[in-house]
Amino acid sequence: MCGIAGYIGDGVAKDYLINALKRLEYRGYDSAGIAVLEKGKEVRCVKKVGKIKELDESLKDEEWKENVGIAHTRWATHGIPSEKNAHPHFDCAGNIYLVHNGIIENYKILKSMLEKEGHIFRSNTDTEVLAHLIEKYFTDNLEEAVLNALKHVEGAYALVIIAKEDPDKIVVAKKSSPMVLGFAEGETFIASDSSALVGYTDKVIYMDDGEMGVITKDDYRILSIEDSSEIEKKPDTIEMDLSDIQKNGFDYFLLKEIFECPEVIRNSTRGRMILEEGLAKLGGLEVLDQNRLRNIERIIIIACGSASYAGMVGEYMLEEYAGIPVEVELGSEFRYRKPILDENTAVLVVSQSGETADSLASLLEAKRKGALTLGIVNVVGSTIARSTDAGVYNHAGPEIAVASTKAFISQMVVFALVTVYLGRMRDMSVVTGKRILAEISKLPDLVDEVLKENDNIRDLAKKYAGYENFLYLGRKDNCPIAYEGALKIKEISYIHAEGYAGGEMKHGPIAMIDENFPCVFIAPKDSVYDKMRSNMEEVKARNGKIIAITTKGNEELSDIVSDTIHIPKTLEMLTPILACIPLYLFAAYVGIEKGLDVDKPRNLAKSVTVE
Ligand code: AGP
Ligand code: GLU
Repeated sequence: MCGIAGYIGDGVAKDYLINALKRLEYRGYDSAGIAVLEKGKEVRCVKKVGKIKELDESLKDEEWKENVGIAHTRWATHGIPSEKNAHPHFDCAGNIYLVHNGIIENYKILKSMLEKEGHIFRSNTDTEVLAHLIEKYFTDNLEEAVLNALKHVEGAYALVIIAKEDPDKIVVAKKSSPMVLGFAEGETFIASDSSALVGYTDKVIYMDDGEMGVITKDDYRILSIEDSSEIEKKPDTIEMDLSDIQKNGFDYFLLKEIFECPEVIRNSTRGRMILEEGLAKLGGLEVLDQNRLRNIERIIIIACGSASYAGMVGEYMLEEYAGIPVEVELGSEFRYRKPILDENTAVLVVSQSGETADSLASLLEAKRKGALTLGIVNVVGSTIARSTDAGVYNHAGPEIAVASTKAFISQMVVFALVTVYLGRMRDMSVVTGKRILAEISKLPDLVDEVLKENDNIRDLAKKYAGYENFLYLGRKDNCPIAYEGALKIKEISYIHAEGYAGGEMKHGPIAMIDENFPCVFIAPKDSVYDKMRSNMEEVKARNGKIIAITTKGNEELSDIVSDTIHIPKTLEMLTPILACIPLYLFAAYVGIEKGLDVDKPRNLAKSVTVE
């Protein structure tokens, strides 16, 4: 999630800070800002919505010689993209200025407490509470105030903080969000990752969770946030190649984002599960009249492309565990229908970008007809997000590769949370709610386990990259994953593939099967496994090659299938989340094997804002 930067030293802070933000642009953002400090003067702070270029342009007419500063590129999570919500944020007295990457989970409670104590807030962000909380504890020492403030904070943060009244230092703090310190003669650099440090230094310290740094131009101390004890950390020397670093060492953003999925699931669920009560906590739905939600008699899910397949997975979840009738409609179709909607119908739009024209058009049509409109959207403040009555943000972070992977995983996880939220206000028992949430909590580790199959899947991709057709098959919760797997290999490697319900194979598609038309079966050991096994026998009988995705420990397919990829056991409703990972890696490596640009496939746009 976006970028933070800081500078203290003999040089001009603004020059490093702007360049650092440009290096961090690849992380995606909606606004940017900078604040610089000279002893005895007021802090200078400039913030802009839009590109860093515009922020830089706006600084051209002034002289910038300050030697201390902080800067930020924002990927909004709380509060729409706007100048007042952009960072740096500051306190009432204009003393404490800070930038933050992450999410402050308990910001509402803190904000209410601070407002009662007379603090005046300027923004709608979660971040701003930190500036006022540090102000509450500030006397004359910044690090002491920060340590006291952070004892009250829950959530994820990479924080860079300056204080007009304690001007010869920068204080940093890290929990969950990334931060690196860079050291050179007479100057220290701070950034979200080392891509901002290339050309400035190769002496770096990666901050760890629970650590605070007190940084002057010639020295630094690392402290434990928990007990203020000093932590001995020496700089490492690193080899740095800019483009590699921005991809965290992966060759493609697509691969980086697939491997980010465990962290994305943590971010999508952070602060949203009350395990001991089997309850989901979704602030975006709590704003609604809960009786209206409880009385919803039908949900129409509207989306396009991959998002529509996530909606289909959500359909299975909501019907099975929340007892609500659901139908999934394509944005490009629903808008032309004469839908029967009333105040007990909820229309739920799923969209990573929040700008897909067909989905937006359908949403506006539904609003016109009085339906309750909800959203599951990744980009905060996007048009769809601002047009719905309420919704849940993914918190998947910016998705750079055109083919959606981590956002899709997040969409299914959010559907599982929404299912518990709605189910527990209906017939879902606390036992079932606890069981589902307990299994969701395991997903990051289970996805990590699947990612360990990477080398096996890359070999498989090399073996199958020459085929010109694939048939992807799945049933029930995994039928939409057959559609998604086929879409991924089409859009990433340009190979023709069809996704089909397993039971539909005998109604036509099996006519295509021979040794040149491999089939990918999503067949975990679940309630429809035996049926899928029969389908495999039918394919095998026609010399069709089979790649099976099945549950770890299931070895009974070895005489039928050509290749197997195993996924760990989980609840049937959550198997689609695990099954996607091998399909994503397979599509990515087939595309790479064919020498294609898997981050930017031909003819595709990341956000389809045309109809
Ligand atoms: C997904 O890999 C595709 N790039 C595409 O199908 C995408 O899911 C679709 O365009 C919907 O986009 P949205 O989620 O931003 O609305
Ligand atoms: N949660 C903060 C906000 O919405 C920070 C988001 C980020 O990491 O850029 O402003």
